[in-house]
Amino acid sequence: MKKRSGKKAEAKPRTRVRAGRSTNAVILAGFMGAGKSSVGRALGQRLNWVFEDLDDRIERCEGRTIAEIFRDSGEAEFRRDEHDALKQSLDELRRGDSRIIALGGGAFAQEQNASLLRSSDVPTVFLDASIEELWQRCSKQASESRTERPLLRSRESFRELHESRQKHYRKASIRVDTGGRTVDSVAAEIIRKLGLKKIEIRTEQGDVE
Ligand code: S3P
Repeated sequence: MKKRSGKKAEAKPRTRVRAGRSTNAVILAGFMGAGKSSVGRALGQRLNWVFEDLDDRIERCEGRTIAEIFRDSGEAEFRRDEHDALKQSLDELRRGDSRIIALGGGAFAQEQNASLLRSSDVPTVFLDASIEELWQRCSKQASESRTERPLLRSRESFRELHESRQKHYRKASIRVDTGGRTVDSVAAEIIRKLGLKKIEIRTEQGDVE
């Protein structure tokens, strides 16, 4: 996704989110490279909400990187850690924090997580883009050594995994197209469609931010 703005037609909202509904949390889902973390950070800044990347929570809890968990304990163990982390994060929401949670690319496709999210009633956002664009973003990040992704292997396996997860992502409350768009315009669209409210922070000087 580009950093600067340029207007493009926005996808129509799907209807599971009621107008005027106020929420203190949002879940960002979508495939690897969908922009979940970048959009989550931008939302956090615009709204003064806490941003949490679920993979970071897993790494903190486990004291290992995601790549190490996959390598040393396998994917099944990673999925258990991921489920525990999601449960913890959703439990913390009950304390009343306002929070944006970016899931890892596979989390939303796991039935145990989907059912947890359904019962939490937190709106979910499917960040979508073409398979070609997702592949380009992930390959670029890999070449810049920014993110080590254990499931980023061949182009063919990437395509197959993407295909197999689409039916799960489509169950999100809304879908937002990120193709060729800036992080900021995607964040603005999510705020508008979900009617998210900024937390006003009063500085020591009494200014409201
Ligand atoms: C995964 C995606 C990764 C990370 C893990 C598994 C997946 O997160 O959770 O490597 O199953 O697609 P990103 O989507 O942030 O890369």
